Amino acid sequence: MGRLWNQYIRWVMKKLSSTGLEQELNQKEIIGELVFPEIAAVARQMAAEGIVLLKNERNTLPLSVNDTVAVFGRCAVDYFTVGYGSGGDVVAPYRKNLMEGLRENGVRLYEPLAQRYSKWCSSPKNEPDEGFWGNWPMNYPEMPLKEKTVAEASENSDAALVIIGRAAGEDRENLLKKGSFYLTDRERSMLELVTAHFNRVAVIMDCGNVIDMSWTESYGDKIGAILYAWQGGMESGTALADILTGKESPSGALTDCIARNYADYPSSSSFGGKEYNAYTEDIYVGYRYFESFAKDKVLYPFGYGLSYTTFEAQSEAKQADDTIIVNVRVTNTGNLRGKRIVQVYLGLPCGKLGNPVKVLAGFAKTRTLEPGESQTVTIEIDLREFASYDDSGISGYKSCFVLEQGDYHIEVGSNVRDTKDVLTVRKETPEIVRQAREAAAVKPGCGFNRLVNRNGKLYYEAVPTVQKDLKATILSELPQERSAASRDIPFSEVISGNASVDSFVAQLSPEELDQLTHGHGKMNFCYGISGNAGAFSGVTEALRKHGIPAMITADGPSGIRIRRTVSLLPCGTALASSFNQEGVERLYGLVSREMDPFGIHMLLAPGMNIHRNPLCGRNFEYYSEDPYLTGKIAAAAIRGIQSTGRSACPKHFACNNQETRRNRNDSQVSERALWEIYLKGFEIAIRESNPLAIMTSYNKVNGVWSHYHYELVTQILRQEWGYQGLVITDWWMQESDSPEFPQLRNDAYRIRAQVDVLMPGEVGKKNDPKAHTLVDSLADPGGVTLAEAQRCAANVLRFILKIEGVRENA
Ligand code: BGC
Repeated sequence: MGRLWNQYIRWVMKKLSSTGLEQELNQKEIIGELVFPEIAAVARQMAAEGIVLLKNERNTLPLSVNDTVAVFGRCAVDYFTVGYGSGGDVVAPYRKNLMEGLRENGVRLYEPLAQRYSKWCSSPKNEPDEGFWGNWPMNYPEMPLKEKTVAEASENSDAALVIIGRAAGEDRENLLKKGSFYLTDRERSMLELVTAHFNRVAVIMDCGNVIDMSWTESYGDKIGAILYAWQGGMESGTALADILTGKESPSGALTDCIARNYADYPSSSSFGGKEYNAYTEDIYVGYRYFESFAKDKVLYPFGYGLSYTTFEAQSEAKQADDTIIVNVRVTNTGNLRGKRIVQVYLGLPCGKLGNPVKVLAGFAKTRTLEPGESQTVTIEIDLREFASYDDSGISGYKSCFVLEQGDYHIEVGSNVRDTKDVLTVRKETPEIVRQAREAAAVKPGCGFNRLVNRNGKLYYEAVPTVQKDLKATILSELPQERSAASRDIPFSEVISGNASVDSFVAQLSPEELDQLTHGHGKMNFCYGISGNAGAFSGVTEALRKHGIPAMITADGPSGIRIRRTVSLLPCGTALASSFNQEGVERLYGLVSREMDPFGIHMLLAPGMNIHRNPLCGRNFEYYSEDPYLTGKIAAAAIRGIQSTGRSACPKHFACNNQETRRNRNDSQVSERALWEIYLKGFEIAIRESNPLAIMTSYNKVNGVWSHYHYELVTQILRQEWGYQGLVITDWWMQESDSPEFPQLRNDAYRIRAQVDVLMPGEVGKKNDPKAHTLVDSLADPGGVTLAEAQRCAANVLRFILKIEGVRENA
């Protein structure tokens, strides 16, 4: 049925392509060479560094040059190199699968089996069905295996590799079903047969998400090694072969903990809701929950990852006020070269607020250390960054970030579970780190009970709800109108520094302000490279007459999504698992150079939502369950993308934590969890890498769509964090009236929130009498003010001025 349906959809797409919609639906791909072939080596290195070794007993790995290896699992041929949707749709020059990688690395394969897979996979009836938008494959059906085939392979080989592949994507959640979160029957039978016949078995997980791993326990010693390889982009197979052969020692670590059962995840009972999800686990996401309340439910802890070699670490820490400096001397005590991730955790006092027992507070990765070699890494921790946000007033300091009194333990280790105290800092009295203002709290009527830690015991207490008068706040903060100069100012004068953005904006008509705050309308802007995601600013004749250039955007996190050959990067989770900020920055620095010949000004990346639940379809694009790691890796990516004067666009701000009904869903979440978990990564990235643009999310946050969210965008992002860049919507937005100002609808509502540009630009249904435009609203005495429209337009123009090339072409 699935296959027939897909065929039907393809037929419909084909019909559409003859009706003029073809430009959007069926853009021509040009497959050729990489513009900067040197990216391949960095992509390969980063894919390898993201691979996590979860188990390695009896020297199962690495393979030796004399080994003959039997490879099981069709994904060795049909490798999932990335997930699906805007974060995966890249025209790669090649996608190395595991078989190719092994052959290129000189591994001797048990050929009869390799040939059998190759033949079976290339038969038309077994060819992978790539589905279509939102109906991507989650797995490819496995080749049935006969016992005789496995027995013959075992008689003629020294080791077996078994590969399990999974994918998900945009608009496509993982499901609690066989073939998605769980193994299929054929995969189980493949494992049964291989473990029955081989003594040396390594399992490789080619997955974008964490899936159920409880089955590994039932095989016990029969599985000697497990690698979580994620999806490594175009160099997937070569990078994996580098690890399997020992050319590189594994040095990745888990960015999410792997629980024994899905039901053990604290968000499992409030994920996938059609209308809303109440984030009842509050700040206790991932390891924050497990380490505090349910250690025994963890199969592999956060930060876990083995190496082929061994390391010893000697740590010392010293304190200067709230800053802690940790020096860790790492020595390679084994026989192979390798890199080591040093992780520093902060053990928190429970206090009145209740805290997780520990949080990641710093990390560093050594260079490759030869056997016997040492390196000292230094990690600086600012305790204030880990203050707790009091959204209830229980500490006596409502809406403040507080370091409560008690002991703060600096712990160094190789994962969240295995740490050693190196310093204890005692606070005799609470320290108020920052006074904030209530923002984006849960709406009364949507209250729920949230998890709290009361002296190590788990309780549920009512989440605080909105107290403030948002309407009054907004009215008290309305901006001032800019006054127009007495002459026309061309934009070239602004570019050359002879006129200000404000005086330029002041002369624009309501129609021009409207045009500046909308994208061109559709994806694949006709003057941009084929496959671009759309354009904004100088996209109308009127704006171009002023001399305003058009800005072209393209997805995305795994490489530039255009119809030309570019590099396909390792997926987000793989990159974050490397814990290598310099490497991520270097890789995206090369991508930034790749953007240049294609005329892309803004890359819609990185994706940095939190892995709240393992089923989220876009987890592969995102980094981690931990906001600190997310923020640091995103900052590195942004620095790289912006290194040649182009713009990154971190997304999706905020709480895009599931794909099910992502446009309608309401993420109901406490202010505390927002600040400490879901916004924290963005805060770090903004502070450390100054992204020129940010994309809002599709979903609602506490009842308000992010693209209308005054409190998220104006109050938190711009006022609290001092962000001065551009804010754009995710592609298209939901029509709505403002509850506070019922005369504001759609664009006017968005402009009041200071979400500057609607992308790709269309809004509302044609002929909808209520879909009045920004221009209508500006003419309405109760509508959005001219000053607010000017403020957004000025944000757009300031963005343009920061883009490389604008000044030269003036
Ligand atoms: C995705 C964004 C993406 C945009 C443009 C949306 O569907 O959510 O992440 O950047 O499309 O392709």
